[in-house]
Amino acid sequence: MRLAFISGATGGLGRALASLLAAKKIPLFLTARDPVNLQELANSLSTQTHVEWVSANLISELPLILQVIEEKTPDLIINNAGFGLYGSVDELNEHIEMIDVNVKALVAITKKAAQTLKAMHQTGTILNISSAAGYFSIPYFATYCASKAFVRIFSEAVDEELSPSGIRVLVACPGQINTPFCQRASKGEWQYPKGPSMSPERTAHLLWKQIIRGKRCAIIDLRYRLAITLSVLFPKKWLQKKLAATILKRIKQDD
Ligand SMILES: NC(=O)c1ccc[n+]([C@@H]2O[C@H](COP(=O)([O-])OP(=O)(O)OC[C@H]3O[C@@H](n4cnc5c(N)ncnc54)[C@H](OP(=O)(O)O)[C@@H]3O)[C@@H](O)[C@H]2O)c1
Repeated sequence: MRLAFISGATGGLGRALASLLAAKKIPLFLTARDPVNLQELANSLSTQTHVEWVSANLISELPLILQVIEEKTPDLIINNAGFGLYGSVDELNEHIEMIDVNVKALVAITKKAAQTLKAMHQTGTILNISSAAGYFSIPYFATYCASKAFVRIFSEAVDEELSPSGIRVLVACPGQINTPFCQRASKGEWQYPKGPSMSPERTAHLLWKQIIRGKRCAIIDLRYRLAITLSVLFPKKWLQKKLAATILKRIKQDD
């Protein structure tokens, strides 16, 4: 691979992906908002591979990232940046921001990467990070779940459009990963992921296998694959109540 672009590179999963690709000597272009974290990460990986980075907010500075994609023409693009927040539709204020990062930026980057690769007659892989949550309509997590369902359906459709030109659009749906995601989602209330969570390193390893195999859609955890398959056997309303209770516990920290 010529160059791998990773958004959300300073987070739990992004960092593990960057480390895995650096160990494989793949040159990296990293982005996230926090320049201090990016600089520190780039320094730690630069003994293994060439690393460039730019700090940018995918909401307000998306054009800068699109310019990077056009100028650097990465042939592996990992749309990993994303966030979720727990809360009811009328109380949370960040629904639009979630859509901006999880959906709008991902669509814009996918489009720009496809245009650029096509114009240069090059092949490439775009890996979009969805979530197992995108298979469920979880109360108090509605916008996040919907955004991740969008990512899966969009990516699967676009892969069918682009694969004849050698451009693959893969989508990964991880289950719970042990990263700062849950703490951020509960605005600091819920400190440690409980239940079946996977390490970011293991997740990154499985994502790499997906890239190598060119698997269009992968649910990254056997336990979540099973849960998604079996979920159709249960009444939706019952399932929603159970999932809602789990989310509410995380906000109220009474578990
Ligand atoms: N952890 C899980 O249980 C889990 C499960 C399934 C799917 N996922 C998905 O996996 C991906 C990575 O999540 P994670 O668990 O690694 O979470 P994380 O540790 O919170 O990392 C999120 C990353 O996204 C970046 N980011 C957030 N908002 C941004 C914005 N407006 N502009 C630019 N960058 C932004 C953050 O960096 P800055 O704050 O510096 O900008 C950070 O690097 C996400 O798409 C998430 O939805 C996570």
